[in-house]
Amino acid sequence: MAKIVLSSLVLVALLHLCGGYKILLVFPLPGKSHHILGAGYAKHLLEAGHEVTYATPFPTNKTTAKYHEIDLSKSVEYFNKHSASILNLKAIIEKEISGDVLSSLPVFIDMLKCSFDNENLVNFLSDTSKEFDAVIVEWLFTDAFAGIASLYNCPLIWSSSMEAHWIVLQLIHEPSNPSFNPNVLSTTIPPFTFFERVANLFTMAVFKAAKYFYLLPRETALYDEFYTPLFAKRGRQLPPYEEVLYNGTFVLTNSHTSLSQPISVPPNVKEIGGYHIDPNTKPLPANLQKIMDEAKHGVIYFSMGTNAKSKDWPDSLKKEFLEVFGGLKQTVLWKFEEQLPNLPKNVHILEWAPQQSILAHPNIRLFITHGGLLSTTETVYFGVPTIVMPYGADQRVNALRAVNKGYAKMVDLSYEMAGDMKVAIEEMLTSTKYSEKVKELSKLYHDRPVPPGAELVHWVEHVVRTRGAPHLRSPALLLPWYQKIYLDLLALVVLALYVIKVVLKLLCRKGNIKVPITKKKTN
Ligand SMILES: *[C@@H]1O[C@H](CO)[C@@H](O)[C@H](O)[C@H]1NC(C)=O
Repeated sequence: MAKIVLSSLVLVALLHLCGGYKILLVFPLPGKSHHILGAGYAKHLLEAGHEVTYATPFPTNKTTAKYHEIDLSKSVEYFNKHSASILNLKAIIEKEISGDVLSSLPVFIDMLKCSFDNENLVNFLSDTSKEFDAVIVEWLFTDAFAGIASLYNCPLIWSSSMEAHWIVLQLIHEPSNPSFNPNVLSTTIPPFTFFERVANLFTMAVFKAAKYFYLLPRETALYDEFYTPLFAKRGRQLPPYEEVLYNGTFVLTNSHTSLSQPISVPPNVKEIGGYHIDPNTKPLPANLQKIMDEAKHGVIYFSMGTNAKSKDWPDSLKKEFLEVFGGLKQTVLWKFEEQLPNLPKNVHILEWAPQQSILAHPNIRLFITHGGLLSTTETVYFGVPTIVMPYGADQRVNALRAVNKGYAKMVDLSYEMAGDMKVAIEEMLTSTKYSEKVKELSKLYHDRPVPPGAELVHWVEHVVRTRGAPHLRSPALLLPWYQKIYLDLLALVVLALYVIKVVLKLLCRKGNIKVPITKKKTN
């Protein structure tokens, strides 16, 4: 043991001596949860002694000699202007926004433009003295940030904020089989019925078409326009977009089988879901600690995440929620940006909620959540059953999975939801099966060879040490699709049959066996 400790200390010291690696993180999406994921990479890599530059719309301005930031906060303004209705709970209840991916593709292109127009990013990338050992890019429907790794002539690692779904897999391997793998953001989960299986294939085809006819031409144009001058500054020609796109070396996914389902992936894909969770849970603020300690009947925690605002709940629902909560024996913590009038005694409003610390408290009984992937991961980490009220993005599929795994109930957003919520709360407080199930999944989650943060660091270092891990590259990338499904063999068989038929015909003619031919003549 002492030896291991000593050698790891020596290793850490050595890393510090040579300054560690230089890593660039590009997490351009102006969503808080995406920032939490990016900040998680920064934290683990910094702790391992590396130098990190983080391009983010949420800069902390707490830079150090080893930690630098590229301020992309302009994207937040853009997003706030355009996303008012996708994140407004009242608008969602009234319009029943579907949140489907296709209709939001133009938003992703606009975001890409918005980042490429950002002077801070352009200025940073124009500085030819900068060098990096690896670039880590968050993938979300557009791939054009891949060019940054090519610019620095270093390996590209993709971070998927979800699991290894087919769209991200095809960048480094090939798309997964739609007959037993859920689509990105699909609301069905395997095993699929016949119609679901067909629908899944259809969605895949539609997305492929959208990529080819809509996204790709726009991305390619933006790629050319943005990178050509940057490459020229370095005296280099712009490599073709296709080459850059499929040059990624590794995918790290924010997923774990305890939360989703097993997916077969090549060796350069690793699940690191949960790395954003601090294993040393911070103590609760004193007043909250007291409230939770004194909750004899347990605590229910209610939060709709970091994006939607609870003040946007319709007034009638706010009132009905309070009536439901007021009728419970449990203490209720409601994350809400402003204080509410006429609060029942057992309800406490938290303008800011230390979610992980609340979920870690032994008196927590139930978490009412929007079902974002980070919150879902935290519930499994801490083993807390949930009522999920999804309003968009991947929340519905997370909710369905949680219900299917047996530790959650789902309540749909509507004007009648307070009643549904009451029924769900009563069911979950009386039955122990939900909490037993989530405790079991929690054990599964924690039963890993190393914590996800250590895995993250290991694979990033491995990619740098091996200059892009070419030994892990999938040979599937080298084959055109028709060879993968043996269309060439099929063509050969058809050709051979045809040749045999022709030869037989010729032989028959020579031997004067006139079976079909005479028939034809007599006709
Ligand atoms: C491809 O990746 C390697 C390392 O993984 C990198 O050195 C090279 O510059 C990349 N090429 C392009 C065109 O992106």
